[in-house]
Amino acid sequence: MKVDGIWRQAIWTGGENLRQVFIFDQTKLPHKLVEKELINTDSAIDAICNMEVRGAPLIGVTGAYAVCLAVAATPKNQDPDAWLVNECARIAAARPTAVNLAWAVDKMKNALLGQKDFSNRLSLAYENAKIILEGEVDCCKHIGIHGLELLKDLSSKKGGRPLNILTHCNAGWLACVDYGTATAPIYAAFDEGIPVHVWVDETRPLNQGARLTAWEMLHHGVPHTLITDNAGGHLMQHGLVDAVIVGTDRTTHTGDVCNKIGTYLKALAAFDNNVPFFVALPSSTIDWEIENGLNIPIEQRNPHEITLVQGLCDGQLKSVLVPPEQSPARNDAFDVTPARLVTGLITERGVCRADKKSIAALFPDKSRK
Ligand code: MRU
Repeated sequence: MKVDGIWRQAIWTGGENLRQVFIFDQTKLPHKLVEKELINTDSAIDAICNMEVRGAPLIGVTGAYAVCLAVAATPKNQDPDAWLVNECARIAAARPTAVNLAWAVDKMKNALLGQKDFSNRLSLAYENAKIILEGEVDCCKHIGIHGLELLKDLSSKKGGRPLNILTHCNAGWLACVDYGTATAPIYAAFDEGIPVHVWVDETRPLNQGARLTAWEMLHHGVPHTLITDNAGGHLMQHGLVDAVIVGTDRTTHTGDVCNKIGTYLKALAAFDNNVPFFVALPSSTIDWEIENGLNIPIEQRNPHEITLVQGLCDGQLKSVLVPPEQSPARNDAFDVTPARLVTGLITERGVCRADKKSIAALFPDKSRK
């Protein structure tokens, strides 16, 4: 998507042979647009853990490039396959919930195992990482195309009045390399001239909505309003939300949706108010093993993310303490919305119901049975 008129993606390669890997440090947004090179595997793992890069598809693509950096650093005196397996395990463990990370790292590992020649192995690694990146971009583009049809439908029922869409966290291009998942249909609708307005949940504790989604909307010119995480139910009761669209970090093949903490409460409120609740995802986010979403591992993050709030003060990014210093805090990063609360899944192959049969029908080649 465009930043100040120039098309940018959330991760890119540069330098000689396009083997240097760069990201935007998302912890600095929206106040500073900082480009950062991931100089080695450890810096890529740190970027994922510290959420300089975040969002399920982007974590997966970063994981793929982390494997390239690991291959480049293979010690001469070590078996390259053993090194690869070990490094892949370290990379995949950087964040536990988004299944895209393990998916991308596994794809890389399978493509590289057994390649003995160093130079071939390295070229193959970068080729495969690029394929993963381009695949995710293509998925997001198609999520936009399919989601647009849903929004056109909803918009026609509103007789030209703006369609109010609520979204949680940041499932935009910053989370996905390009276009985004939840935002792809919104950008597509806006670009077609459909009047849309986005309610942006601030998304505590790290404020991905307030910092990142608001920044994206602003740069694309999409009308939006920031709201507290607690406001969604109230707005729905007053008829001010026409649809909710969120992304997901892992969706079971049975349709349970794991996403940023607070998503479940939005789904409950949407259900109670007959507001359609859509989840946009590439198939790399589907977990084909786990049947029950409550068995998805939920990342526990540092409580400091709750107690300290970051913002701009006198031109500097600063953190301030909100609660009493001694008060304990608990930071579950994700929650699970049961399939029964989900109106539909918007995927790269089309829209389906959030149940095992419908998901398998759309992805017969990926479904295990
Ligand atoms: O903790 P984050 O910021 O990585 O969480 C991101 C989300 O919850 C997104 O909604 C999800 O990854 C989907 S991104 C298209």
